[in-house]
Amino acid sequence: MYRLHLNENLFVSEKFIKKVVLEAAKEVDVRLYPEFYGKRLALKIAEKYGLEEENILIYGGLEPFLHVFASYFFNKNVVIVEPTFEFYSKVFRSSGVRIKSALLTTPSFSLDSEKVLDIAKKSSAILLASPNNPTGNQFRKNQVLNIIENFDGLIIVDEAYAEYGRYSLIKNILEYENLIILRTFSKAWGLAGIRIGYIASSQKIINIFKEYSSPVSFSSLSLEIAIKILSYEDKIMSWIREMKETKKWFIERLREIDVLYPYPSDANFVLVKVLNMNSKKLVEKLYKRGFIVKDVSYMPLCKNHIRITVPPKDIGEKLIEAMKTSLDKTLV
Ligand SMILES: Cc1ncc(COP(=O)(O)O)c(C=O)c1O
Repeated sequence: MYRLHLNENLFVSEKFIKKVVLEAAKEVDVRLYPEFYGKRLALKIAEKYGLEEENILIYGGLEPFLHVFASYFFNKNVVIVEPTFEFYSKVFRSSGVRIKSALLTTPSFSLDSEKVLDIAKKSSAILLASPNNPTGNQFRKNQVLNIIENFDGLIIVDEAYAEYGRYSLIKNILEYENLIILRTFSKAWGLAGIRIGYIASSQKIINIFKEYSSPVSFSSLSLEIAIKILSYEDKIMSWIREMKETKKWFIERLREIDVLYPYPSDANFVLVKVLNMNSKKLVEKLYKRGFIVKDVSYMPLCKNHIRITVPPKDIGEKLIEAMKTSLDKTLV
């Protein structure tokens, strides 16, 4: 089965990742608890972006960190810019956070900052992902900055896919005390299985969230792997470039199929509108042919849309063929 439904990194070589894992394993004594708050990793990340170690809070993945946010925002209003990563609303709803939804503007899923600010009046926080999942676009920087500058509460920008995008706002945390950036090793760094992510923000905000989070939410091995991979940034960058080239090719091939409309993407996946066909049926047909892609029809504004992780070219070619045959037999 080809897994094209979770936006994992299929370009980083498995052999290389195994090598990094083995190197890390040699240096770790798992009889001991991990270093509290992953100080050495926090320091390395801070150095990379010209920040202080105190601006970084390491956590065992971003998705689990949402529970930390949820306990902080219990009974408070949080605006989520949608359609987006479904776990925000799932975790918040089940934890007593009051959610308000601010919809992106179709047809290109752009961010209307004034509309979001209007909806967010008297809310405690605004949460948005940029590049966004499932739409794949990175919002215009001036629109995001307009929200940051004119909102009194916390603004959380999930940059899980920033390495694929055109810019990052991580350095802007030095300028805006209310800005929180989320980053992860799961996507561009090819380490979804080790579960390491982090938040970057002002020292004041980091200290608040430290009170709500475990100092050891990750394993010492994961921590060491993340530290090690940072020294291979050039290699990772070359896989990012390869993914981007392949993405261009993949989108062109999808565009050649009449009933598919692929959106532009600043991430490692593509949102595709399925015209005049049932997207759920298409997903089922593809599954039978060995490809798992995600039907996102249940998300707001995404009726009859699917999301596909950009595959390496050889898999992409097979997928395009499978698409063509599946579509022939997929009726409304
Ligand atoms: C926008 C976004 N944020 C966060 C995550 C999950 O990050 P992590 O693997 O660090 O939990 C995902 C995974 O798909 C995502 O799409």
